[in-house]
Amino acid sequence: MELDTHATLSVAPMMDWTDRHCRAFHRVMSRRTLLYTEMVTAAALVRGGAVHLLDFDAAEHPVALQLGGSDPLELARATALAVERGYAEVNLNVGCPSDRVQSGHFGAVLMEQPDLVARCVAEMINAAGDVPVTVKCRIGVDDQTPEEVLPDFLARIRDAGVRRVTVHARKAWLQGLSPKENRDIPPLDYELVYRMATAFPDLHLSINGGITTLDEVAGHLRHMKGVMVGRAAYHDPAAILMRADTRIFGAESDPCPTRHDAVLAMVPHIEAHLDAGGKLGQVTRHMLGTFAGQPGARGWRRTLSEGATRPGAGIDVLHEALSCVTEAAA
Ligand SMILES: Cc1cc2nc3c(=O)[nH]c(=O)nc-3n(C[C@H](O)[C@H](O)[C@H](O)COP(=O)(O)O)c2cc1C
Repeated sequence: MELDTHATLSVAPMMDWTDRHCRAFHRVMSRRTLLYTEMVTAAALVRGGAVHLLDFDAAEHPVALQLGGSDPLELARATALAVERGYAEVNLNVGCPSDRVQSGHFGAVLMEQPDLVARCVAEMINAAGDVPVTVKCRIGVDDQTPEEVLPDFLARIRDAGVRRVTVHARKAWLQGLSPKENRDIPPLDYELVYRMATAFPDLHLSINGGITTLDEVAGHLRHMKGVMVGRAAYHDPAAILMRADTRIFGAESDPCPTRHDAVLAMVPHIEAHLDAGGKLGQVTRHMLGTFAGQPGARGWRRTLSEGATRPGAGIDVLHEALSCVTEAAA
């Protein structure tokens, strides 16, 4: 299947959340959904030598690395490292509003510098060979007029060779809002993003922001080539991912018919992690939302979160937590 087709549905890059254990869990529920890493800065890879940040398991594929940075040559070097490691895609973050990121002069502030972004992606594309280079952006920042800046931004990066873009359908306000507030307070403008999809038929555009159910995903897909889901996929992964392969991708079956199956499908990953000296909670913290809204969900969460902190906590904690939930069919 083409990567663009996988990008019909993707799980957003989320710092501290979409690490390799989270991605392993999402992957057991959907074989097709495109998964993104947390943002990794190009500087950490190139200047800091922190190439371990690129570690991932082939079972997570297709997986896209998200980079942060604004130095074209540094981004190109980081892209080359990512391609060498086998990532299916390299994405540039033009949406993060955190102070740390602003002082490094990348993320959402780059919405104000489309020329620089175009140079960055051009160098990344040079370094990427056949691997696609994509961008995740906002509709604008601060007092910009999205209706004007967004089409200009998209045209510049398209002219630099980008073919796929995800648009978080709200502005980032760079002063006075925390990153968390910047994901909720600036209003969503889906219509503007739909208009971009019509104006740029040569781009594969995905819409992101505030999408919480698979029905909503299907609704957006009437206007867009792709939909990216962030928080909802983390907090209630089964609701977004467990039926995605059949409903969104037209597969004949989904890999895990029930939430129980999804949990059990994680046992080999967890055992390998424990054998390698890892801690149970490093994996299971991403699984707390598995039974969101189902009978026994609280018992599951409590047993799993408390049990995982016990010294030497093993796979038995997972089975103990599973016994709290009665869900048979999702
Ligand atoms: C905990 C957390 C961390 C995030 N980290 C990143 C990141 O590293 N890179 C990025 O482009 N967006 C990041 N985001 C933003 C999401 O990718 C997404 O754009 C945003 O949450 C809106 O989508 P949603 O409403 O579906 O969650 C993060 C969001 C959350 C909740």
